[in-house]
Amino acid sequence: KKLVIIDTDCGIDDAQAIMMALAAPHVQILGITCVFGNTGVENVCQNVLRVLSVCEQGGIAVFQGSGGPLVGVRSPFSDHFGTDGLGDVIEDKDLQWEKKVQREHAVNAMIRLVSENQNQVSLVALGPLTNLALAVRLDPCFPKNLKDLYIMGGNMEGKGNVTLCAEFNFAMDPESAYIVLEEFLCPTYLASWEYACRNGLTWEFFKELINQDAPAARFMKMLTSKCRAYSKEAMVTKRDVYFGPCFVSYDAYAVAACIDSTVVTEVIECPVHVELQGSISRGMLALDRTHALQKSHSVFVMTKCDVAKFGQLLLESLRQPCNK
Ligand code: BDR
Ligand code: CA
Repeated sequence: KKLVIIDTDCGIDDAQAIMMALAAPHVQILGITCVFGNTGVENVCQNVLRVLSVCEQGGIAVFQGSGGPLVGVRSPFSDHFGTDGLGDVIEDKDLQWEKKVQREHAVNAMIRLVSENQNQVSLVALGPLTNLALAVRLDPCFPKNLKDLYIMGGNMEGKGNVTLCAEFNFAMDPESAYIVLEEFLCPTYLASWEYACRNGLTWEFFKELINQDAPAARFMKMLTSKCRAYSKEAMVTKRDVYFGPCFVSYDAYAVAACIDSTVVTEVIECPVHVELQGSISRGMLALDRTHALQKSHSVFVMTKCDVAKFGQLLLESLRQPCNK
């Protein structure tokens, strides 16, 4: 089986992405590590536990990680997926959630799981990269022991979704994004914000997706019921500049690339750089297509996707629980 660790700031698109990995018969999730991002890390842990329980996969270990960025004060949480990250629709909160989270810190767990399975683990990062940056500081061999790394984050053309120039996951912790892209020399695949937006699906497809007759689909329908990120009208009228007119499940693009490489049909292979200074460019990703920076390590920046195949993976992911 393909061994995978998912690092997440579990908002609704992270939930969808986790379900995609859970549904893949050839994938074994070794653990899910949580980080702040869409909401506080405590909410993130609860959200992941909820997703696992809906998919009847409660045996997968969940670890609590960093609650803020490496440097500076955490930016206010966005309400993109509601204040709890899952659309503010869950009323029966799990009061026992803390007991269900492992005692081991997420960063220690990542290091342990990867060193127990050297060069076999794919790491998929769906939130700010703080846990990954801490992992390489604690264990410099961590990236070398990974099989590969899939990141949802960054941008290709200097146009951001939360600041003028930066994508959310990089903007929330630019130093960590910088460390990871400089120091993780394993094969690294990047699903940028533009990649996701350009390979979006129709709102008709979204309806078909959430109206499937299965617990996971009903759950997703509930999560997206009040959330403006899943409203066609909100996307088309107010946020067109940012999100475009399509249904875009950002984090699922990184998981899809990890579990089925044929979903990605075109990449740019080049070195990249994360801006740390700059009053408007902090957190921006720059692609060094001409090798001007003379860096020796390149990453694979995904540019085109087999949207039909991706859509199929989404459909399958909401037909859970499945027999794995
Ligand atoms: C990214 O930001 C988060 O809000 C989403 O979960 C995704 O990881 C998109 O910019
Ligand atoms: Ca995310």
